[in-house]
Amino acid sequence: MKNIDSILIVGGAGYIGSHVNKELSKQGYKTIIFDNLGYGHREFLKWGEFFEGDLADIDKIKLVFDKYNIGAVMHFSAYTHVGESVIDPAKYYVNNVANTLNLLNVMREYDVRYFIFSSSCAVYGNTIEVPIPETHQLKPINPYGRTKLMIETILSDFSDAYKLKYVSLRYFNAAGADFDTEIGEWHNPETHLIPLVLDTALGKRDMIEIYGTDYDTPDGTCVRDYIHVLDIADAHIKALKRLEYNGDSLTLNLGNGNGYSVKKIIETAHSVTGKEIKSREGARREGDPAVLIGDATQAMKLLGWKPRYGDLKKIIETAWQWHKKLYAEYKR
Ligand code: UFG
Repeated sequence: MKNIDSILIVGGAGYIGSHVNKELSKQGYKTIIFDNLGYGHREFLKWGEFFEGDLADIDKIKLVFDKYNIGAVMHFSAYTHVGESVIDPAKYYVNNVANTLNLLNVMREYDVRYFIFSSSCAVYGNTIEVPIPETHQLKPINPYGRTKLMIETILSDFSDAYKLKYVSLRYFNAAGADFDTEIGEWHNPETHLIPLVLDTALGKRDMIEIYGTDYDTPDGTCVRDYIHVLDIADAHIKALKRLEYNGDSLTLNLGNGNGYSVKKIIETAHSVTGKEIKSREGARREGDPAVLIGDATQAMKLLGWKPRYGDLKKIIETAWQWHKKLYAEYKR
């Protein structure tokens, strides 16, 4: 039997996908999670139905579309480590580009027309205008960013030629966790700043290494725009509603418009956790732009979206609550 109005969440067992799944489920959508559990977590499969599969396997993708009456697809399943993408670009082009193309082709075959894509501020490369508008030049400086830009290009061509309507959401730095601490950021290996800083606060690491202190920024460390994962989830639902009501295809930034340096993150985490957080000044990490701050005016205007949890303390507080649970319950 087919279910009507199901939303397929590819990569729904991962960090951002699981938050979107929870939010969609709360709002009464039926969700189907397609995930190979390579980086996703079985523990995050708390809502909707789970279908284990990999986008490299076209027959598996078709099985999902045969079984459910998929109305829209949200795609979170990508490799996201900038440094790794420089060392092993093939891994990124195969998974992030070729496998996404498999998904888009199956969608065409089954006449599924709505697609929401997890893009990234990595498509911009070095910043020449701050905050960055969507019209900023697109010159990614690492293979990861190039894979995201390639999919954006494909989406634009597909929507011109076929019946596809899409919203591509260029996230700045996703951070924070579900307020009920049911899900949160959990990467293996962990490379992101906030979880690593919280690991240090918990005594799981001796110190946090600051990657570069000679950037052209106020304190010499990289500046990022941290956006709460629940604000990202909210934007997905608003994007879906806009597509349902026949909105045009869009490419939008999702950020707070505020930048915080690596040192500021460490300082705020210290004040939130009350723990000592030792740091060491190290060399730059390859592929890191100095400043990434997003201008999300278009998302606000066209989706009626507004970040609700932009306060850095709030972001780190929710991440901290989740992080403590991650160790206590999952013994990570
Ligand atoms: N950093 C450190 N020490 C660490 C880890 C990170 O100093 O141990 C710094 C990084 O150099 C960077 C900042 O902290 O300046 C944030 O780093 P993250 O790894 O947390 O996040 P990124 O900005 O590198 O990555 C994010 C997303 C990617 C996306 C990228 C765009 O996670 O998916 O933004 O540049 F591609």
